[in-house]
Amino acid sequence: MYVCLCNAITDKTLREAIKRYQPKSLQQLRQIVPVGKQCGKCIRVTREILQEELQHLPLYKEIA
Ligand code: FES
Repeated sequence: MYVCLCNAITDKTLREAIKRYQPKSLQQLRQIVPVGKQCGKCIRVTREILQEELQHLPLYKEIA
């Protein structure tokens, strides 16, 4: 599913970037993936996906 239509970014792309780089904030995620750089309508959903994915990676979060 496309999360960011402006930049053609899917939820799969976001989830893979979060798993791989484990950004601790939306700001850090946006340095990896150019999500929300235009209209910004995708920010809310992106934040939800980030929180959801980070909850599934507790061990990695502690190591990083
Ligand atoms: S939908 Fe993501 S910036 Fe517009």
